Amino acid sequence: MIAEGTSRASAIAHPNIALAKYWGKRDGEGNVPAVPSLSVTLQGLATRTTVSFESNLVRDELCLDGVPASTARITGLLDRVRTAAGITTFARVRSLNDFPTASGLASSASGFAALAVAATTAAGLTWRPTRISNLARRASASAARSIFGGFVHLDATADGARPIAGPEHLDLAVLVCVTTESKKSVSSTLGMLETQRRSPYYAAWREDATKTCAAIEHALVDRDFDALGELSEHSALSMHACAMAAGIVYLNGASLALLGAVRELRKNGLGVYATMDAGPHVKVLVRTRDAGVATKALAPLARRIIEATPGEGARALEEVSP
Ligand code: PMV
Repeated sequence: MIAEGTSRASAIAHPNIALAKYWGKRDGEGNVPAVPSLSVTLQGLATRTTVSFESNLVRDELCLDGVPASTARITGLLDRVRTAAGITTFARVRSLNDFPTASGLASSASGFAALAVAATTAAGLTWRPTRISNLARRASASAARSIFGGFVHLDATADGARPIAGPEHLDLAVLVCVTTESKKSVSSTLGMLETQRRSPYYAAWREDATKTCAAIEHALVDRDFDALGELSEHSALSMHACAMAAGIVYLNGASLALLGAVRELRKNGLGVYATMDAGPHVKVLVRTRDAGVATKALAPLARRIIEATPGEGARALEEVSP
């Protein structure tokens, strides 16, 4: 328990890319997804966050990528940590992403995972990863998955996330094809709400997404790269089709050009598959040996390409970031 003074901790977390997407929430408490999802946590992109509970603060403060930002989305998580640790001090939070924030590159996943680890550590709570994951899930459901490394399943119940296989389980490279540096126009939270309210295809999506997630888990366990890739592309296209029917369009011209190029490469025999989240970037799934060829072919269509591979879960850093 922190009586007074300062208690600080830093953490690092990586974004995760959903191979089986979730889109939509269950009614009621806890920010529980409407469908199960399966992701891979990536190394090659990272959020580093420092939380410092300071007795002289009169409110929580957030500095995101060097700029003061609203604490609206982080106060709930900090309040839960304060209640559990029996402290009342406010926190200074500094968070740095080494990739574009809020543009569909899953910065909320790595951001809230890093925040959950740094805040619980700074508050002296020695929670197991599952409990930290559930704390992160309440702020951003996808963040629950970034607590774990490798391949992770997130249930459509309050059970939360569990790791299925380590990062080395599958030979996989993810080419993050960045199509714009600007922020997305519709948050995933709002996009999901609109889809649930307005998409005529929402019920069909829910049914199909649950089956697709189970099929992706099988393909992963069998290390069947092509089945996993095909099903992942199907999951992404179904999610976007469902959202588009509600007027929620995340893809831009470059996204469609990249999607077309991926299909062309596939026709020519390369095992490449595309997935897109709540933003216009295209993430290409490829075997590591094919990553160079795919990058060369796709580079003219993207602003830049970041190559990532399966990586570790969120963890506290020994060194407190400055
Ligand atoms: O949990 P959020 O708000 O980060 O939304 C995640 C939505 C998708 O990335 C599109 C799908 C997913 O399962 O990660």
